[in-house]
Amino acid sequence: MTMKNRDKNSPGGSLLYEQVAGEMAGLIEQGTFRAGDRVPSLRQLSQRFNVSINTVMQAYTILEDQRLIEARPQSGYYVRSRVPEIREPDFKSRSFIAPTTVTISDLCHQVMHNMMNHDLLPLGSAIPHNKNLPVDKLNRIMASEVRRLSEQSVSYQMPPGYERLRVQIARRALVAGISSGPDDILVTSGCVEAVYLALRTTCSAGDTIAVESPFYFNFMQMIAELGLKALEIPSTPRDGISIEALRYAIEQNKISACLIIANFGNPLGSLMPDERKRELVELLASHEIPLIEDDIYGDLTFGNERPTAAKSFDNSDLVIYCSSFSKTIAPGYRVGWAIAGRFQGEMERLKMIMNIATASPTQLALAEFLANGGYDHHLRSIRRTHARNVSQMADAVARYFPAGTCITHPSGGFILWVEMPAGTDAILLYHRALEQGISIVPGPLFSLSNKYGNHIRLSAAQWDERIEQGIKTLGALAHDLLPV
Ligand SMILES: Cc1ncc(COP(=O)(O)O)c(C=O)c1O
Repeated sequence: MTMKNRDKNSPGGSLLYEQVAGEMAGLIEQGTFRAGDRVPSLRQLSQRFNVSINTVMQAYTILEDQRLIEARPQSGYYVRSRVPEIREPDFKSRSFIAPTTVTISDLCHQVMHNMMNHDLLPLGSAIPHNKNLPVDKLNRIMASEVRRLSEQSVSYQMPPGYERLRVQIARRALVAGISSGPDDILVTSGCVEAVYLALRTTCSAGDTIAVESPFYFNFMQMIAELGLKALEIPSTPRDGISIEALRYAIEQNKISACLIIANFGNPLGSLMPDERKRELVELLASHEIPLIEDDIYGDLTFGNERPTAAKSFDNSDLVIYCSSFSKTIAPGYRVGWAIAGRFQGEMERLKMIMNIATASPTQLALAEFLANGGYDHHLRSIRRTHARNVSQMADAVARYFPAGTCITHPSGGFILWVEMPAGTDAILLYHRALEQGISIVPGPLFSLSNKYGNHIRLSAAQWDERIEQGIKTLGALAHDLLPV
């Protein structure tokens, strides 16, 4: 449960500041904040828990009385050492002397291959540009961490994964409204592995899984590969998955799980409002259907406030949260994670069978980067860059594509979904673009039921003259393909 779900009149009758104190005490107990760590400032915690600064002050006073934290002048509040204070020995007592399933689409495979082809202009791939990744800093950190922790770097970091990294992830989860301890985090080899494990844990071959439509093509392929059936629920660029349609689908079908990207979905870029996230989680919970949430783009908001995760509304322990650092720090590091609650044990077991553990050196480097590498500063910078790129690319599409073309206006991420006039063949456009040295992702990949024939996905991960020229060429090709 998160503070966001709590109110002044909790069942136990405790006051709000006591609840805040309890929540923070729990995080200290779990090791999310450890001895010597600074806990969030009054202002930060009041924003994260959506309570007044006064309430946080009262909560921190309780924690001070409990000797869990201490105030340091000009510096904030810190977790006190949990080593008990030395007491005066009691010589009188004399106690001191006692001892103590479906086929993979070829087109999908080809499109993924093209994404990695550096001879092609990457207009479709949702991969961050190296210029927007902290490459030099990461290289330095990796070298020094591997030297400093040489034995750990060559050993397995058995699931749930490198503890220092899990502490950092648990802390950051708080910003998304999720209260978790390091032991609630399962480090995975990327977000894709987290989602794969979640699907394997919640569904069996033949089951039906509800997904947004359109939906990230790799997951559509994964669903097919696992022998699952996808129920494609309409989604809007503004609000994400239609809860009304999902409600109806649940009445008509037996659904084993629901898989969504609530924050800046792929490809629609939609951001579900908090109220709808809550509604979705409650609807699914009322039918005991697990929700698998991919939040890989959540940190890439164009605003200052990171959106909350659907998981933050999870009172039934039915949401499996999945994410990674692939869009923000280093896709090639292959480090992601899941917060899976009751499903974690089974996911861990499956992970060990599949690949034993996630690679160690990258876990060590990411833990240090998150702790001391200026991640927030880095995020502020890439958010600005992506916001600029997205608006420049959208302008260029408006300039060069045929009249009647529509485009999404995401408020985070770096993906654009383009709807060309009806009858424009996106797969043909994909092939013609390849002949011109340009890669895009054609819309039909985002469905298993032949939809989106006149749509394409574009990526604004970078913007320069070459990219603009590429959009111009693509627009001209789209003109040529207009139905007569
Ligand atoms: C929605 C979504 N989830 C997951 C991934 C891949 O995640 P990872 O590289 O962490 O496995 C992508 C990459 O495009 C994505 O768009």
